[in-house]
Amino acid sequence: MTKKKFYVTTPIYYPNDIPHIGHAYTTVAGDILARWYKLKGYDVLFSVGTDEHGKKIADTAKKNGKSPKKFVDELVPKFKEAWKKLNIDYDGFIRTTDENHKKVVQDILQKVYDKGDIYLGEYEGYYCTGCEAYFTEKDLVGGCCPIHKTKIEKLKEKSYFFRLSKYQKKLLDLYKKNPDFISPKNKKSEIINRIKEGLNDLSISRTSFDWGIKLPFADEHICYVWFDALLNYYSVTREKGKEKFWPADVHLIGKDILWFHTVYWPAMLMSTGIELPKRIFAHGWWTFDKEKISKSRGKVVNVDELISIAGVDSARYFLFRATPFGDDGDFSEKALIERHNNELADKLGNLVSRVSGLIEEANINIYTLNIVEDVSKLIERFEFDKALNSIFAFIDTLNQLIQEKKLWENKNKKDLYELVTGIRVVTVLLWPFIPETSEKIAERFGFKISLEELKKPLKNIKIKKGEILFRKI
Ligand code: MSP
Repeated sequence: MTKKKFYVTTPIYYPNDIPHIGHAYTTVAGDILARWYKLKGYDVLFSVGTDEHGKKIADTAKKNGKSPKKFVDELVPKFKEAWKKLNIDYDGFIRTTDENHKKVVQDILQKVYDKGDIYLGEYEGYYCTGCEAYFTEKDLVGGCCPIHKTKIEKLKEKSYFFRLSKYQKKLLDLYKKNPDFISPKNKKSEIINRIKEGLNDLSISRTSFDWGIKLPFADEHICYVWFDALLNYYSVTREKGKEKFWPADVHLIGKDILWFHTVYWPAMLMSTGIELPKRIFAHGWWTFDKEKISKSRGKVVNVDELISIAGVDSARYFLFRATPFGDDGDFSEKALIERHNNELADKLGNLVSRVSGLIEEANINIYTLNIVEDVSKLIERFEFDKALNSIFAFIDTLNQLIQEKKLWENKNKKDLYELVTGIRVVTVLLWPFIPETSEKIAERFGFKISLEELKKPLKNIKIKKGEILFRKI
């Protein structure tokens, strides 16, 4: 039997600065799902990458006195280092300057053109380089971009257009036929209402700068950065051996880029006849001490800062413990430290330390626990906070067992054995979230991180109390 497959993606980020908590958030979420499906024995493709073309990169490179390519070549390693520090176990890192990607984009452009869905016109309107997005007059706030609050460029140039308007009804049908296509649900109605107001055709080429992929049928034009970027998800699967992963099972994104992913992207695919991804899931935004994260106000938590507070696992844990994935959340160092101390150190750390400290050896019956099934359902519905809640409720039960049975006095072997099997369940279920800690616990008790192995008896190994897992802060 062929293995089931799971393909999950994160947005590809603009490498115009070092990665921060917003980038880390989606990337850890992707890692949790990828690790989870790997645990279940699926063939997994977890793809991350960088979005390297466009005006924003070209302008920032110029400001730094570098060519765009040299500029991004220097920043891309910063993303790879950050993902390494966060224990992101991705399977592929795509850069939109990769030759394979550029070829796929040109092939698709040609196909859409041949189909008659691209025509030459003139674009006249507003463009925010920070967003890399077009705006209409009524979108602006005091003549400025509603998101960046910066003065907005007025463009007038010859441009090729994609017949997006043609797909208005097909898109609405798609959301109806496939109610899970856009999640969470509350985000869906916003998109539907906006589409019902009417869709304009999309300007997909520029001539006033040249940092981008050339249109194959008009090489004085370069491709609009979003048309190029969205195709990354597909071009990754045009590499040898990866074809079977398309369509993607889920694109994880932030709520600000939902429109691009739920309108432009499916319409582009409909035009070419390529199968659509199964789901787009948008998460909320982090604020920092209740303020918008912004560089100018010195409120950016970059990945190194995030990890330095209480270590990598506590950072990963906090991001998914406190806030439902899909809602906005407020980041504070204090809240992270509280979770680290009260839950990871006092509950998980304590349990492991007490049980491993109490045991010398044990060899009795196994029992199975059904929290595996509960947690499995929650993870697969992206309800990460609830999954962690259920795991920690179980940790509480295990800690109570030690208390009630006064195990430090009687060291009852059967109870201790049951506790270790309980710890094994906890450890395996926590692995997608806090892999470093889980691997330490597994090593201490001599079991494997595997859902399959949960059914097998524990090995009879010598257990030592070992180091403290989480030092309180
Ligand atoms: N390059 C595009 C994505 C193309 S995908 C085909 C892009 N890049 S980005 O570098 O600006 O990254 C944006 C991502 O980071 C979005 O998913 C956005 O939601 C996320 N975040 C940026 N700041 C954030 C917070 N403060 N909180 C949570 N996520 C936020 O857009």
